[in-house]
Amino acid sequence: MVERKDVTVLEPPVLRIEHIWKSFGKVQALKDVSFEVYKGDVLALLGDNGAGKSTLIKIISGNYRADKGKIYLNNQPVSFGSPAEARHAGIETVYQQSPVCLNASVTANFFIGRELCNGLPGIKFLKKRAMRQETEKAMADIGVHIPSVKEKVGLLSGGERQALILGRFFHWGGKIALLDEPFAALGVGEARKSLKLIQHMGQQMRLPIILITHNVEYAFEIATRFVVLRHGEMVGEGKIADVKVDDVVAMITGAIHVRDTN
Ligand SMILES: Nc1ncnc2c1ncn2[C@@H]1O[C@H](COP(=O)(O)OP(=O)(O)OP(=O)(O)O)[C@@H](O)[C@H]1O
Ligand SMILES: [Mg+2]
Repeated sequence: MVERKDVTVLEPPVLRIEHIWKSFGKVQALKDVSFEVYKGDVLALLGDNGAGKSTLIKIISGNYRADKGKIYLNNQPVSFGSPAEARHAGIETVYQQSPVCLNASVTANFFIGRELCNGLPGIKFLKKRAMRQETEKAMADIGVHIPSVKEKVGLLSGGERQALILGRFFHWGGKIALLDEPFAALGVGEARKSLKLIQHMGQQMRLPIILITHNVEYAFEIATRFVVLRHGEMVGEGKIADVKVDDVVAMITGAIHVRDTN
């Protein structure tokens, strides 16, 4: 286990990636990328277009296999053959357009695959009231107000859908959330709500989060740590509190190359 100066409680990282390499034909998308994510971390994964951010997220979430390198979840080596396997292990990915069942209610989406039932063998009745109450409580616990959990998800805003996915994931014991450009499709007001929620879930509820965003100001508002990729290589990492926005922008554009391995 790596001892980190900024982690007061010595606990193993929730996620550790070690020496990850990935190429697509002649394009070397990732070159020897390694870092850890701890509880309490909102880790901003930054970099210019084509830097390798989404490729890395897709490797962690079981969409792609790395050419080389290892991934550890709670100190156990893992290798996912599909996104479903990664989700089952506790890794949730939220993209700009995340899959939810638009014509089903908030409650139905919250409980999908985990419905509460009553009944005799062969005849099952959904415990709709209990499911609604549990959904309301879970969303309230993370500080999200959804007008009615009976509402069809298709009628919710983009930010509310993200909140539903994160709330559901947290409620059912998810271990780490990967957010790839979660603000890109949101208006300014929605993006602000989403920022607050991510900060709350990461810092107060201690759900480890990797956040990809092109918006460096947003990253500075809510992230605790950062990693910068450039042409597939890690060119910077550290605590957000230790750096200035301009320095990180310079790492992203290639004006400076810093690698702080505290
Ligand atoms: N499935 C693929 N097939 C071929 N090349 C790919 C594939 N996925 C990514 N690449 C290439 O790998 C490199 C890294 O791409 P990636 O999508 O990871 O970048 P990114 O940092 O997420 O960029 P953006 O900020 O634009 O989303 C790019 O050169 C891209 O063209
Ligand atoms: Mg991307």
